[in-house]
Amino acid sequence: MEKFIVTGEVQLKGTIRTDGAKNAALPIMAASLLCRGQSIIHDVPCLRDISIMQDILTLLGAKITREKNTLVIDTTHIDKPEVPEHLMREMRASVFLMGPLLGRMRKVHLSYPGGCAIGPRPIDLHIKALEKMGAKVRECFGYIEMEAKALHGGDIYLDFPSVGATENTIMAAVLAAGTTIIRNAAREPEIYDLQSFLNKMGAKISGAGTDTIQIDGVRELRASEHTIIPDRIQAGTYLLAGAITAGDVVVKNILPDFLFSVINKLEEIGASIETGTDYIRVKAEKLRGVDIKTLPYPGFPTDLQAPMLSFLTIAQGTSVITETIFENRFKHVDELARMGAKVKVEGRTAVIRGVPKLTGAVVAAPDLRAGAALVLAALAAQGVSEVESVYHIDRGYDRIEEKLRTIGAQIVRINS
Ligand code: EPZ
Repeated sequence: MEKFIVTGEVQLKGTIRTDGAKNAALPIMAASLLCRGQSIIHDVPCLRDISIMQDILTLLGAKITREKNTLVIDTTHIDKPEVPEHLMREMRASVFLMGPLLGRMRKVHLSYPGGCAIGPRPIDLHIKALEKMGAKVRECFGYIEMEAKALHGGDIYLDFPSVGATENTIMAAVLAAGTTIIRNAAREPEIYDLQSFLNKMGAKISGAGTDTIQIDGVRELRASEHTIIPDRIQAGTYLLAGAITAGDVVVKNILPDFLFSVINKLEEIGASIETGTDYIRVKAEKLRGVDIKTLPYPGFPTDLQAPMLSFLTIAQGTSVITETIFENRFKHVDELARMGAKVKVEGRTAVIRGVPKLTGAVVAAPDLRAGAALVLAALAAQGVSEVESVYHIDRGYDRIEEKLRTIGAQIVRINS
C-alpha cells in the first residue's frame, strides 16, 4: 500500500495546469460505443477510474490505444452487452454503460453498481427514465437485465437532477425513435461536454447546461474527435491547497465560470481571487469562517465539500457545512480530528470551530475527495503527516504529489 509523507507549513506558490475532467471523460468514453469507428479523445487524464473504463470497453470488444493524454477508441466490433461484476463493483461510473449499450445493442446486462464510501448510490432514476423509453427491466440476483426491442423518445422528469441519470438518458435517446425531453436535468458542465461530443458524432441534442434537454433521435452516429473540458474539481482542490497554506497559486486551463460558487465562497472567507479567461489565482489573506450548503450545479459542488472543510478548520470563528447531495460524505472529519480539528457532525451538517493550527498525524484516506482533503490539511499542519490508502486519491487526481511539488509542497509517495 502506498502513502504520502507530507511536511506541512510550506506556503505554496506557483502555477498548476488542470487536467481534463474525469467526470466528463467517463461518460464520453462510454458514449463512443454509440458509433462504429475510431473516436479520438484528447486531454483524457491518466487515472485509475479511466483505466477501469478502458478495461470495460475492451471487454465489450473495443480496441483502445493511448498516446499520452489522447485515447483512440475503435468501437467497430462491440460483440457483447455485458459488464462483469468485478468491474462494476470497482467503479460506480460503469453505470454509464446502460444508455450506450441499450442504444447500440438494445440490450444490457450488468450487476448492481453497489454503493461506495459516500452513500448507497441508487440508480432508480436511471431505470425509470430508460423504462419510459421502452426498456424492459429485470432485476434479479444482483443483476440488472434490460432489453428494448425499440427504444422510443419520451417526456422524462427526473425527481432529482441526477448527473448520471441525465447522462444515461441522453445516451439512450440519441439513437431512439422520436424526441426525448429531459426535465429537471442536471446542469453540470460535464453534461454540456457530453452533448458537444455526441453532436459532433451527428446527434441532435440541445439544452445541456439548462434544466431541460431535448434529444431528437437519429438513425446512426459516426466517430468523431473531441477534447475533454478541464476538471473543475481538480482545479478547485489546487486552489484550496494554495488557500490553506496561505500561499499564492495560479490554476491554469480552467474556466472561472465552472467554479463561480467556490470563488464566491473563497472571497467571503477573505481570500483574494484574480481570474482571466483560462486561469484563477488565489492569495489567502485573513480567513474567517463561512456557511456552505452543497447543491447541484451551479451550487457549491459536493466534490469540493471535503477539501473546503479542511480549509475551514483553520479559519477564524465557526463555519457550518450542510451536505445535501450524499448521505455519508463527512468521513474525513474523524481523520481531521487526529490533526487537532474541532468539527462536530450531526447527520448532514458539520459545525467547524476554527483552530489556529493543525498538527501533523498519521491519517488514512477513506474515499477519493476525503483523501484529497487530508492532503490539504497535511500541507497546512505543523510537522510531518502520513496519508495512507492513497489509491483512493489516485482515482481522481493524476500524480497529485508531483503536481503539488511543482508549487513547493514537501510531499513524497512511498510504499508502506
Ligand atoms: C456524479 O455522480 C459524479 N460522478 C460524482 O463525482 C458527483 O459527486 C455527483 O455526480 C454529484 O455531482 C461522475 O460523474 C462519475 P448523482 P452520480 O446521480 O451521477 C441520488 C467524484 O468524486 N440518486 O447526481 O452518481 C444519489 O444517491 C464523484 O468524482 C438517486 O437517488 O451523482 C445522490 O444522493 C463522487 N437515484 C444524488 O442523487 C438515482 O437514480 C446525486 O447523485 C441517481 C442518483
